[in-house]
Amino acid sequence: MYFYQDKFMPKEDVHISPDDRGYYFGDGIYEVIRIYKGQLFERQRHLTRLAQSAAEIRISLPYTIEQINAILDKLIAESNIQSGNLYMQITRGEGPRSHAFIPNTEAVMLAYCTEMVRPLEQLQNGIAVITIDDTRWLHCNVKALNLIPNVLAKQSAFEQGAKEAILHRDGVITEASIANFMVIKNGILFTHPANNLILHGVTRAVVLDLAAQANIPYEEKAIRLEDLSDIDEAFITSTNAEITPVIQIDGILVGQGTPGPVTRKLQQLYEEYAQ
Ligand code: PDD
Repeated sequence: MYFYQDKFMPKEDVHISPDDRGYYFGDGIYEVIRIYKGQLFERQRHLTRLAQSAAEIRISLPYTIEQINAILDKLIAESNIQSGNLYMQITRGEGPRSHAFIPNTEAVMLAYCTEMVRPLEQLQNGIAVITIDDTRWLHCNVKALNLIPNVLAKQSAFEQGAKEAILHRDGVITEASIANFMVIKNGILFTHPANNLILHGVTRAVVLDLAAQANIPYEEKAIRLEDLSDIDEAFITSTNAEITPVIQIDGILVGQGTPGPVTRKLQQLYEEYAQ
């Protein structure tokens, strides 16, 4: 079942207007929320971020958070999915193509759930990544629909036989194309501060909470490309990737080239917390 513009309907009945500003301009925001055991994981954090993204780009949410919660509850109940995710997006609405906002236009929400199994092989064995220039705008904290730089970075990774691209601005590592990035050096976890240059990942926040509880020291401090030759462990975090170890960067092994002990500890804590 899909939710589109005030109604629940089968996918076949969703007819999106070519005048939707999401289609013309990528003028909208989105969230991806994980479903574990038929429940939305960290729903509150996702909805708080959704409201912040909307406010930052001046979209008025078409519903209250209570109404959105009721819509999501119904989608989850009807889909009966135990393991998967919920995708939702809100665009600035419909109207003839014109860059400036069109007065009195209602934002349009689309939401649905899909089944997904956990990426067990990658969680166990880790992934290879490449590094690439971060060519995105300066509002990466907004979970905006326009993802062209992310799409191109991810595609470059695939074309080089890797699974993810780690982005950097003039040598300063920000995050990955669809995940946050963390490294471990001498027992300390480092990740880019939650400012306008990265998406404030929900998984990132959960991992930092778990690190604090487990007395794993962390610093929200950016590292540079040249620091990568001297790290002990690395991993990416996201709703879908959870905590995926990074075992190779630009063809060079991270540590011994296998997931390290701090990564394993955090994976275990995350699994206990999420499942
Ligand atoms: N992406 N950074 C970027 C650029 C992302 O696109 C994502 C998630 C994250 C991790 O955020 P979270 O932990 O809240 O999932 C970080 C989603 C899943 C996507 O675009 O499909």
